[in-house]
Amino acid sequence: MRKILTLTALLVAITGCSGQQTVTNVAPVNIQSLAGNMAITDIRPADAMAIYPSRGTAIERSFSEQPPLIPHKDDYKITLDKNSCLSCHSWDKAKRMKATPVAKSHVIDDKGTVNGHNYFCTQCHVAQAENKQPLVENQFSDK
Ligand code: HEC
Ligand code: HEC
Repeated sequence: MRKILTLTALLVAITGCSGQQTVTNVAPVNIQSLAGNMAITDIRPADAMAIYPSRGTAIERSFSEQPPLIPHKDDYKITLDKNSCLSCHSWDKAKRMKATPVAKSHVIDDKGTVNGHNYFCTQCHVAQAENKQPLVENQFSDK
């Protein structure tokens, strides 16, 4: 009996304090699209998945001082605490991962500590997929 009483008291305490009340009679939300009541007719298939050059193939550079293009996917996480690119390209891991170590210009000491300017790799290096259409027409020539 005592157990039941304690249990009931506990239940009352929990439900009483939870602050949740059942809301009744909620008005329906009418969200009107800015485009009005228009059926979407202009649809197209999704873009093709990017096909990157196979691992181990560096892409030829077009001009000196060009940040080399990334021959693989580029959505590795780069945050203040962790730079996933460096898990393959840092000086101590590159050899084992068969990747080119970050350039000498990117580091501040002989241990290969990347400097602040070069920390956010994808600011300069972009991935190159083989099957993508150019988004912007480009007349660049290195000749
Ligand atoms: C799983 C390992 C791995 C990770 C993670 C990785 N890479 Fe690579 N990366 C490679 C390998 C292997 C190659 C091909 C060998 C080479 O050319 O360095 C390569 C090639 C490159 C190249 C071409 C180098 C050249 O000389 O042409 C660039 C630039 C590059 N990666 C940048 C990045 C960036 C930026 C990131 C993060 C967004 C990144 N990589 C993450 C393994 C990796
Ligand atoms: C401010 C622009 C910039 C940023 C940021 C940057 N790079 Fe570079 N990177 C370059 C340029 C320019 C070159 C080519 C000239 C040179 O070697 O310094 C290069 C060269 C490289 C190379 C080729 C080195 C070689 O010996 O051929 C690799 C690999 C590379 N970067 C990886 C990275 C990684 C990984 C990061 C992020 C940790 C990064 N870069 C950040 C501009 C940048």
